[in-house]
Amino acid sequence: MGKRFVLAITGATGSAFGMAVAKRLAASDHVDGLQLLLSPTGRRCLMDECHLSGEALAACSPKIQLLNERDLGAGISSGSHRHDGMAIVPCSAGTLGRIASGTSDNLICRAADVCLKERFPLVLCLRETPLNRIQLENMLRVHDAGAVVMPLMPGFYQHPDSLDDLFSTFATRVLDQLGIHEEDPRRWKG
Ligand SMILES: Cc1cc2nc3c(=O)[nH]c(=O)nc-3n(C[C@H](O)[C@H](O)[C@H](O)COP(=O)(O)O)c2cc1C
Repeated sequence: MGKRFVLAITGATGSAFGMAVAKRLAASDHVDGLQLLLSPTGRRCLMDECHLSGEALAACSPKIQLLNERDLGAGISSGSHRHDGMAIVPCSAGTLGRIASGTSDNLICRAADVCLKERFPLVLCLRETPLNRIQLENMLRVHDAGAVVMPLMPGFYQHPDSLDDLFSTFATRVLDQLGIHEEDPRRWKG
């Protein structure tokens, strides 16, 4: 049986990275389903930067199911609903802070909270710069609670030919953190 993941896109620049992760997960033979969440500002950034609505992104693959981020009754609100991990790409400093303090006040933060308590993989691709002390402390708090903090810092040693290359190679690394190891010609070979 294939794996099932949750992906959230929150209100930070870099929504193209989230789009790339969604497409790569949906395209993987190892993945059966992807539950997609967008915060209101995440929707705005995806539209501004990628000219794409959440609905259009979900329509890219029948494996993608778009959830309402205000629906705290969704399955992923409960630890009894099993899945294989969650990534937030990009993760705003606001969402990081809410996860670090356990507010669980929207479905994105609740689902992340569930990942931490159930020990499901949780990958937070924070996008903010420069970082203040509160954000640095929040990164340490979520790290200590079990999350992987993976700032949106793409590598350049692969000599990307295009922005799509850059997004895709970063997506490979996010999938790695979720336990999905896909072929990527730009992996470092020594
Ligand atoms: C166009 C735009 C770009 C933004 N970029 C960032 C960003 O790169 N990083 C960040 O932490 N917040 C950024 N913000 C601010 C967050 O979206 C804001 O704090 C929001 O409340 C975060 O909530 P969310 O995580 O639920 O989307 C941006 C906001 C807008 C409107």
